[in-house]
Amino acid sequence: MSSLPKSIRDLSIGGKRLFLRVDFNVPIKDGMVKDDTRIVEALPTIRFAREAGAKVVLASHLGKAKGSPDPKYSLAPAAERLATALGIKVRFLPDCVGEAVRQATAALEPGEVALLENVRFHAGEEANDPAFAAELAALAEVYVNDAFGTAHRAHASTAGMAKHFAADARGAGFLMAKELEALSKVKDDIDRPFAAILGGAKILGKIAALEALVEKADVVLIGGGMANHFVAALGLPVGKSLLEPEGVPIARKVIDRCKARGVKLVLPSDFVVAPSLERAGEAKTVAMNALPDAGAAFDIGAKTLEMFRRMTADAKTIFWNGPMGVFETKPFDAGTRGVAEMMAASGAFTVVGGGESVEAIHQAGLAEKISHVSTGGGASLDFISGKPLPGVDALR
Ligand code: 3PG
Ligand code: MG
Repeated sequence: MSSLPKSIRDLSIGGKRLFLRVDFNVPIKDGMVKDDTRIVEALPTIRFAREAGAKVVLASHLGKAKGSPDPKYSLAPAAERLATALGIKVRFLPDCVGEAVRQATAALEPGEVALLENVRFHAGEEANDPAFAAELAALAEVYVNDAFGTAHRAHASTAGMAKHFAADARGAGFLMAKELEALSKVKDDIDRPFAAILGGAKILGKIAALEALVEKADVVLIGGGMANHFVAALGLPVGKSLLEPEGVPIARKVIDRCKARGVKLVLPSDFVVAPSLERAGEAKTVAMNALPDAGAAFDIGAKTLEMFRRMTADAKTIFWNGPMGVFETKPFDAGTRGVAEMMAASGAFTVVGGGESVEAIHQAGLAEKISHVSTGGGASLDFISGKPLPGVDALR
């Protein structure tokens, strides 16, 4: 593994203004934080910084704000949730740059915490604009990035601003370090046999990860909409199931590559189908080579789940990304829940990455039984694929 950046532990932060980039991109509903995992996971770094006497300036993006203020993407609910978690007052600032923000951050006392408003309310964030990065950097004397979930983005607050800090005044928080360490065990330091379970609706967004995992894993198990592409690649009908035509030759390549490498490729042997999602009441199980013209696959079947269990029974490492079906709609949640339970029951080193599979783990109340639940979806896949993480590289 390439060298880790400096840890916040090794930086001098006492009495200093510390810009702490976190990933508080949490789901918000009716002005409330729906899942606070990413906030909770950032607490060790925030607490450490306060106890060391830093004046903590927190920054994050939220949602797909497009370069101008948008109340539906305000970080205000996250500030409230953070204040409750820390049991202190968190000063929420209505912007992330400008004179008022400069004054408010300059007035912070050691141990105090401020949260800036969504950095994506400025177009300079995603554009990684040097002037915007310099403005953010001017708010602090030390820079720490703990936003693993956003480490795959080369934006002003995750990458551009780092160079304004000397090598001994920038580093990584505890969450960033924990993620890199755990994920390196499914990338470089793999205890074998290694099983990779991939699902999700689409295949095109995950080509690099699929290709990388085929090179590393001993067993590759496919579910979700991704599996339809493999069925089509075998020349079998998929009915009305979700299919990105450009994904079929990719599946074909994966099948060939697994053969060449001697990797066991495990495709679903049965699917749960229905005429449409709305007609879930008519769901039935069919064999993988019998997908009906008038139906679509919405989940893997019970036989597949049993086979997945058998094929991962002796694994020492298991990585899972992407749901096995449309798990928001019953009864199509069974496959995803089954894989979550299988992961929880396994004695292997288990890693789950990606928003929806992580959601499924939490819904099932099984997070405690997984070795590592990543706060990053795209970031964890990019890391495992061997792509650079700008948010980490900028710290070195
Ligand atoms: C995420 O949730 O994927 C990260 O916070 C990054 O957000 P983005 O995909 O909007 O860049
Ligand atoms: Mg994303």
